[in-house]
Amino acid sequence: LENVTQSCFGRTAPVAEPGILCVDGLGSVGSDALATLLPVLQCGEESASLVFDGLAMKPTIKDRDQLQMIAAEERQHEHMLHSLAASLPRPLRQAPIRLVARRFYVRQQHRNIAVHFARIAALDSGACVILSALLRPAARLAKASDVQKLFKHIYQDETRHVRLSRHHAIGRIEPAVAHDIAHQTRGQLADILLSVGDCFESLRVDAAALDRQLRHVPQGLFA
Ligand SMILES: [Fe+2]
Ligand SMILES: [Fe+2]
Repeated sequence: LENVTQSCFGRTAPVAEPGILCVDGLGSVGSDALATLLPVLQCGEESASLVFDGLAMKPTIKDRDQLQMIAAEERQHEHMLHSLAASLPRPLRQAPIRLVARRFYVRQQHRNIAVHFARIAALDSGACVILSALLRPAARLAKASDVQKLFKHIYQDETRHVRLSRHHAIGRIEPAVAHDIAHQTRGQLADILLSVGDCFESLRVDAAALDRQLRHVPQGLFA
């Protein structure tokens, strides 16, 4: 069971009481699939809380309170996803994807704060793309209201994070440059998800369509 609540960056306390969420509606195939792809989202949340804590401490940064608030929200997301992981079966292919995801998120950090914020906007808008695919009425999650509620909560927070991150990137960097950076980050995220395409299909999400959407950064992101 200890593997189920494993963390990416070794900070999250294990969930004391697993099985808090009702995941029955997912069925066994859906539960296995969600458990297998969940580490990608978990690593993202863990990384984001660390990153926003760090950004809030930068001497030249404005909106310090907002950044601290986001760090707190990311920690909340992290705990929510750990509760979810603890409610799901032990994933079959956990170790490799967690390792790949952790490396990917660590690599997104950049000394140049504008580059870093452009990447965060890409990641959080990418998370919104993934979550909204999972939240479509035809997807399996529609039958698991606890999971649906949790993902909706995260989705709504992430849309705000995208707005704040793009705000910090804009003005420090050319929109076309920010767009190229975001395009690269989104492509790398899509590459990681290729290995769990079958899991998305098991959750009744069109993996090829999701891949295309992730690789397409809307022109408006930094406009
Ligand atoms: Fe988050
Ligand atoms: Fe976020």
